[in-house]
Amino acid sequence: MAAPLGGRGAPHRPVLLRETMHFLAPERGGLFVDCTVGLGGHSEAILESSNETRVVGIDRDSAALSSASRRLAKFGERFRAVHADFRELKRILTELGERDPVGVLADLGVSSLQFDSSTRGFSFRFDAPLDMRMNPESDDESAADLLLRLPEEEIATIIFEYGEERNSRRIARWIVESREQGKPITTTKELADLVARAAGKRKNWQIHPATRTFQALRIAVNRELEDLARFVATAIDLLQPGGRFVVISFHSLEDRIMKQELRRHAGYCQCDSRSRLQGATCTCGARRVVEILTKRPVVPDDSEIDANPRSRSAKLRACRKLIS
Ligand SMILES: C[S@@+](CC[C@H](N)C(=O)[O-])C[C@H]1O[C@@H](n2cnc3c(N)ncnc32)[C@H](O)[C@@H]1O
Repeated sequence: MAAPLGGRGAPHRPVLLRETMHFLAPERGGLFVDCTVGLGGHSEAILESSNETRVVGIDRDSAALSSASRRLAKFGERFRAVHADFRELKRILTELGERDPVGVLADLGVSSLQFDSSTRGFSFRFDAPLDMRMNPESDDESAADLLLRLPEEEIATIIFEYGEERNSRRIARWIVESREQGKPITTTKELADLVARAAGKRKNWQIHPATRTFQALRIAVNRELEDLARFVATAIDLLQPGGRFVVISFHSLEDRIMKQELRRHAGYCQCDSRSRLQGATCTCGARRVVEILTKRPVVPDDSEIDANPRSRSAKLRACRKLIS
């Protein structure tokens, strides 16, 4: 994600903006749902594309929502902000009395507002309480709470699966040893220092040794991969025929779910290939209700990555609901 003020004073630039607009085609007018409004960059471009577009912008971070609402106030009632989890999309639209969106966008992951905050614990660049909740007003457990409660094995699995960190076991052991010695990890600095020590010295770190562990914990704290498949099904179900669904992911596990779900809704069976070879009946519910618009995921070009290094892992996928 781009910084609100691009780090060095450049304006906030949403990831894959041109490509997102190409696939969403907001110039058609109608209702669009931005499920992850963040700083409002994509929503702004949608609203600017035609006076006939309206946007419902959802975010579970009220700070992001306030910032987006200020930015988008110039569009008056064409923009409506909703503080919620996008996995409740159906309930949200029903409560607003809205239906038949022509486009649904989800730009997953963490925003610059969160990552560049010195107090919310997303980044080891600032010494802060180890929180990492996208919705700090919720009753969800913080990252510090998780590290205090979870068994060593589970901490290791989180760090390995969500962070792809090969020192996961050792890091988990050190975390648990520290809490057993009466020194639970409660701040970003404590965690970053512990990981750096556990991972050992290496001459050429490409990234800070704690990067992967921080990413893994953030995904676990916010349960970012939970119910994503159901969310895709809901979004597609709610779209009007001809409507577009666009998703940008930043993590291979997230992108794998998106790829599978789009293919399933395009009618390609996603059952285990062995059972398919043995002629078993399809149980994944594959049904052709969309056409996939991106054969391969769309990724940022070099100039975007140069301007916004945080965009480098972005992958965009899109589909169009068939007119049945
Ligand atoms: C990558 S940023 C979006 C940036 C936005 N497209 C822009 O142009 O500024 C992701 C945003 O999604 C929000 N978010 C992540 N998961 C969410 C969920 N399950 N429900 C609602 N919002 C979520 C985060 O709080 C964050 O603000």
